[in-house]
Amino acid sequence: MSHVTKKPVLILGGSGVVGRHTAKTLRRLHPDLPLAIGARDLDRAGALAKELGHATAAKIDLDRPDLGLPADAAFSAVVTLLKDETLNSAKYAQSRGLPYIAFSDWIFEMGPLVARYVHAPASAPILFLGHILGGTSTLSTLHFAKELRRVDSIELAVVLDEDDVGGPSAQGDFERVEKAVSSYLLRKEGKWHWATEADARGPIKDAAGAELAARGLSVFDTLSLATATGAPSVRVDMAIRPKASRAPGKGISHEIIVELHGEKNDGTVGTIRHEIVYGIGHSESSAWGAALAVERLLGLAGGPPVEAGLHFPERLLDPAYVVERIKEFGARVKRA
Ligand SMILES: NC(=O)c1ccc[n+]([C@@H]2O[C@H](COP(=O)([O-])OP(=O)(O)OC[C@H]3O[C@@H](n4cnc5c(N)ncnc54)[C@H](OP(=O)(O)O)[C@@H]3O)[C@@H](O)[C@H]2O)c1
Repeated sequence: MSHVTKKPVLILGGSGVVGRHTAKTLRRLHPDLPLAIGARDLDRAGALAKELGHATAAKIDLDRPDLGLPADAAFSAVVTLLKDETLNSAKYAQSRGLPYIAFSDWIFEMGPLVARYVHAPASAPILFLGHILGGTSTLSTLHFAKELRRVDSIELAVVLDEDDVGGPSAQGDFERVEKAVSSYLLRKEGKWHWATEADARGPIKDAAGAELAARGLSVFDTLSLATATGAPSVRVDMAIRPKASRAPGKGISHEIIVELHGEKNDGTVGTIRHEIVYGIGHSESSAWGAALAVERLLGLAGGPPVEAGLHFPERLLDPAYVVERIKEFGARVKRA
């Protein structure tokens, strides 16, 4: 391990639903990587730190530019697994040259962090990771897209269980989004377009063949996938599976459905469909994405430490590596 990563990774929100899975995934990938679990409730964060080993707890005050941390505190990265409306956590990372992950932004609210970057572009690597399932859905889609030499359209859908709502912060984020915007951004026939009623997608067929009503989402995946593939039409939707339709004795699960249309490498034109079924709640698979991003930013996998800049996950992580990792963690990938 390099001298940089001997300093702990500060995980803000590390004791939350996503946070504890992120910490545990990092611990599994890097048994010696020091972690600092940041939150308001020090008892809860401390109990997790004890369970993890090589970890401490840090009481966080987001209203303060120093986050309430001691002046001599030193970290290797700042991972913000909550919506930091002050952006003090980003400012803290930039002023110390530390890689920073923003996990809770939607497309329409990226402006403030972009402004922070524009005013200090050389200070630190900043990664937008508000993507579905912590960027792993976009990376998986790009892996599947290698079967095509021209991508005409991408339809990515996430199917969540009715009970799979995450912790209070995640629920608060959904409420904020509902209040802030009534539309969603998509790429339509070569143009960026805020959806109208006419753009509503028909029902999504889940991996078990059930049809579920869909609604569009303004997530970073739309930006990443359209820009990376050049596809003129890209959309991301979500469907909720009612509790009543869960098979008896089965726990919550979620899945993503990826439909790609275009010219295949053999010259034929058609649609390919992939399904990824997780068999767990979405907070856990999202945490895999956060953990893979941390190890990449620090240079613990996939290349040297990432340099200062504004980043999307598909510019840093290898799609094949991500698909292999999520399969190893338990995701089932099927070409339908
Ligand atoms: N990009 C993705 O794929 C993805 C997927 C799922 C969720 N998310 C986002 O991830 C975030 C976390 O979701 P979650 O389900 O883990 O929520 P959660 O269980 O409520 O966790 C929130 C964490 O943040 C801490 N926290 C909350 N407010 C704080 C504050 N003002 N100062 C310091 N710490 C604070 C909480 O601890 P204390 O209460 O002790 O402070 C807890 O550790 C949400 O913003 C959600 O929207 C993103």
